[in-house]
Amino acid sequence: MIDLHSHILPGIDDGARNLDDSLLMAKTAVATGTTVLACTPHIKPPTYLNNGPAIDAAVNFLRSQLELADIPLELVVGADIHINHDLLDGLKTGRLPTINGSRYFLFEPDHNVLPPGMERFCASILAAGFIPVLTHPERLVWIERHYDLVCHLEEMGVALQITASSITGGFGRRVQQWSMRMLGENRVDIIASDAHNNTNRSTSLSDAWTLVEEQFGSACANQLLLENPQRILQDQPLLEKARDWNTVAPQKHGWLNLINRISSK
Ligand SMILES: [Fe+2]
Repeated sequence: MIDLHSHILPGIDDGARNLDDSLLMAKTAVATGTTVLACTPHIKPPTYLNNGPAIDAAVNFLRSQLELADIPLELVVGADIHINHDLLDGLKTGRLPTINGSRYFLFEPDHNVLPPGMERFCASILAAGFIPVLTHPERLVWIERHYDLVCHLEEMGVALQITASSITGGFGRRVQQWSMRMLGENRVDIIASDAHNNTNRSTSLSDAWTLVEEQFGSACANQLLLENPQRILQDQPLLEKARDWNTVAPQKHGWLNLINRISSK
């Protein structure tokens, strides 16, 4: 699998606190089937002042440490970019890194309040040739009131990333329900760990793979956890969403049964 969202770089945001944490997170990723991991620290001034050149240097450092520790995990550069007014300029200059130098970048709006003008903002970024990957919409507090906007953004060409542990219930039932709904409606482009540590927010994607495979089929799991992430790394268009997944799970189990079955495991 390929994981395009992690806070594995040591000591530069609220993820790995030190190199030991980073190495443990890398070992977990390898042990659970991840071969490539994007290092995507927060960029959220004034709290997290990371930038492209500094992230490059931090990734190079961690690469060298993985090699010394004999951990076979390939790292690529990225960032978890909080919405800000000069985002487009930052992407153009390289101050804000895209994923592996592609046109795709992780884009995080405020969790609690819908930022005004989101639609116009995303349209201007898309028109400039960049593709926002909206991180974990299922966890946004405002999704309930503005799900139509999330759908509209997706239809405009914004990619959606769901967090692996949201699917498996790690953020509670409400978040899990939104995850399953968006998966069932074929709104999701990639699944990633958004790992912050080696305990409750780990780098493991394997449980999410199992659950998605069970509910939506192996082609779906493969598309969201391997093929689309690979396409992003190679700066290629994402795969068409297979509309037949749309009907499989609800017809088989119904949404509530589905969630109950998952929750009782
Ligand atoms: Fe993140």
